[in-house]
Parts: sequence; C-alpha cells; structure tokens
Amino acid sequence: MATVAIIGLGPVGLATGVALAAQGHRVFACDIDADRRAQIVRGRPPFYEKGIETALRKVLRLKRFSVVNTMEEAVGPSEIVFLCVGTPSKPNEGMDEGPLREAVKSLATAWRDSKRRTVVVKSTVVPGTTDNLVRPILETTNRTYRLAVNPEFLREGHALADALRPDRIVLGVDGAATARILKALYRSARCPVFVTDLRTAEAVKYATNAFLATKVAFANELANLCQAFGVSYDEVHRGMGLDPRINPRFLVPGVGFGGSCFPKDVQALVAAGRKHGVESRVLDAVLAQNEVQYLRSIALLEEELGDLRGKRIAVLGLAFKGETDDVRETRAVPIARTLLSKGAVVVGYDPLAGPSFSRLVPEVKVVRSAKEALAGAHGAILQAEWPAFSRLTAKDFLATMATPVVVDGRRILDPKKMRGVRFRRIG
Ligand code: UGA
Repeated sequence: MATVAIIGLGPVGLATGVALAAQGHRVFACDIDADRRAQIVRGRPPFYEKGIETALRKVLRLKRFSVVNTMEEAVGPSEIVFLCVGTPSKPNEGMDEGPLREAVKSLATAWRDSKRRTVVVKSTVVPGTTDNLVRPILETTNRTYRLAVNPEFLREGHALADALRPDRIVLGVDGAATARILKALYRSARCPVFVTDLRTAEAVKYATNAFLATKVAFANELANLCQAFGVSYDEVHRGMGLDPRINPRFLVPGVGFGGSCFPKDVQALVAAGRKHGVESRVLDAVLAQNEVQYLRSIALLEEELGDLRGKRIAVLGLAFKGETDDVRETRAVPIARTLLSKGAVVVGYDPLAGPSFSRLVPEVKVVRSAKEALAGAHGAILQAEWPAFSRLTAKDFLATMATPVVVDGRRILDPKKMRGVRFRRIG
C-alpha cells in the first residue's frame, strides 16, 4: 500500500483521493481553501458527486483518508504526490498556470527531507507544462524526484465511479521505475494501462476532450441540418452509426456543451496552438458552433409561441448537465438571459443547482420543483438531463402548463409519449 498526498480537493482531487483510500492506500489530502477542508473533514463534500459522501465518511472513519491543513503535513509522510489543482483558461489567453505554479512552489518549500518522491500531475495542462513549469521548480529543491502525468477522465457527477472503475489509465512517465510505482498504485484497476512520455500524456487528455466536444458540436450541426431537410436526426444517427468507423456514443444533440472542462480545454488547446503558430480551424468552429447552438431552443419556442414578451417560460435543469450541481458554462445562463431580453418571465428549477444559478442570473425566479416551474407556463425548455425530468409525462405538462409547449433540449423524452403536447426537439 502506498502513502499518497492529494493537493487540491476539487471534484477530481477528492474523487481520486477517496478512491485510492477505498482501495487501501493511505491518503493525506490538502487544499488551500480552509472552508473546503473544514467541510471535507466533517464528511461533507462541498459539491455533489454521486456516492462520494458515503465513501468519504467511510475512509475518514477507517483513518485511511486524512484532511491536513498544510502542504508539509500532506507531503511529509507521502511517497507519491498528486497535483490536482484547477487549470482555468480564458478565451485567447489559454491556460492559467498560476494555481499550478503556486502549488508546485509550495510543494518545493514543504519538501524538507531527502526522501525520493513521485510527483504526479493530474491537473489538465497543455503539452509541455510538466517539463517547462513543474520540473524547473522541483529542480530548485535539489531533491531527487520522479515525475509523471496521469490525466483524469472523470465525468462530473460520476467522478467516484469513474475513479474506482476507470476504462483506461494513461501514464506519462520520466522512466521505467516511475511507471512501475504507478502501476503498483493502480494494481486493482482492471483496464488497459497506456504508458508514454510526459508530454504525450498531457496531449492525450486534451485530444480526448477536444474530440468529445467536436462530436457534440457535430451532432448539433447535423441535427440543425436534419431539421432543415425535414428528416429525423434519430434515424440518420442510427443509419450512420452502422458504419463501424463511427462510434454512435456521445452524439446526442441539444443546446450545446457546458461545464468546467470542454469549453476551457478546447479554448486552451486553440490558444496553445496559436502560440506555436498553428491555427485550429476545426476547434475554433467547434467553439463557435457551441456558442450559438442554444439559440435553436429559443427559435423552437418562438415557432410555437410567437413573440415571447410577457410569456412565462420554465427552464428545467440549471446545471451544465444532469446529476451535478455545477453551473460553470451552463447553457441555462445564455438561454435565460436571451429569454429575459425578449421580455419573457423566466422560472427555473434544478434538483441541486438552484442557489448557484440564482447568483449568476438573479432575475430568474428559481422554484422548488419541476411542477412549480411548469405551473401556468406558456413554454418549457429542458436544459439538463436529470433522470427525474426523463420521467415527466404528457399528463404532467398538460395538467400544469398554460400552453403545453415543450422544447426538449437534451433528447430525454420520448416524442411518441407526448400526445397533446406541442413537443419540439432540435433535429
Ligand atoms: C468531461 C469528459 O466526459 C470527462 O471524460 C473528462 O474527464 C472531464 O470532462 C474533464 O476533463 O474533467 P464532464 O465535463 O463532466 O466530463 O461532462 P460530460 O458528461 O462529458 O458532458 C459535457 C457536456 O456535453 C455537457 O454539457 C453535456 O450535456 C454535453 N453533451 C454530452 C451533449 O450535449 N451531448 C452528448 O452526446 C454528450
């Protein structure tokens, strides 16, 4: 069993740390945010992740997972140090290296003994960052260390399950010994382990997210085209999916992608390419497509309702997707703002994200149930794929709404079961 430090307790750090502790490793976790540490130490994750609360409480009770207040306390006993801090990015500016640089500097200062440690970058970083930013800071310590990049492929909301049962592990390493140490750490995982160099592992993570974002943008564009041609996207998707070269998954069209990963990672990749003189025309188009895709849901509402002034519109699902409370880059924000600018009265509901959405768009009245949001509404947009929304029936809409106009922005309802509802989907 290994002793591991987790630096940064966002969804990735917490899920990784809890999963490693659940697998029997000893984990010392820290975060610079004292409130966050205080919540986690009491077994209360500061964000929603399915199953994490129970699993966290268990590993805290077993004393396999300790939340510590300082970098020294995390690093001192550990052989392996995971850097899991956020790497935000801004359009045209690329990845903000600040939080990672500060974390590595603090690690270097806290490294007091001569123990040889393996430092693992789990944060999503543009290719070259580990060599050009992390390594030079570690060099200043005159300590011996091993270096690795181990990108995460955790979906928000399912981060713990993905950490416990990964479908692949990518290890960028500085040598065979580092690969052996990390393979031993992950020995309970039953999946392919791909070992490569540091820079390639960094690139694999960006390539994966950029490709997935491209699939979603392609699905959205195809759905828009299908609508114009008067053919069903579902049928085209089915026919196209028979080609073994096309994987039909992750091609659900709707109001566009959001979240803390796809928009920021694609922007960071485009900006990093530009710094090297490479224009990413496809990825530029993916971002541009995604910026405007939400407008299709509003156009469908207008086709059914005409002028939206004074109309009451329910937005169901305020998080960037179902089963998370994360509102970063959620499409609910531009949808609500556009509806408000058109004079509509907007009412929102989300099982978890209501309070954080209210801080972003205070003009939207956030209510406590889907039924309350739909009551008296002239139209509704389904913006996030919460399981509870997929159980809504035609009766639910017909019984509550002033005019039963429903735009399914996530393809979660079966049109065949929507008799009596003026039901629209993109594509
Ligand atoms: C994504 C990746 O799926 C993870 O593998 C990765 O580890 C993570 O980013 C990250 O880099 O940390 P996540 O952002 O949690 O995970 O969300 P996804 O489930 O991938 O969905 C992203 C967005 O695309 C959501 O807004 C979702 O509604 C949308 N989407 C997804 C579609 O519109 N259509 C689809 O077919 C799939």
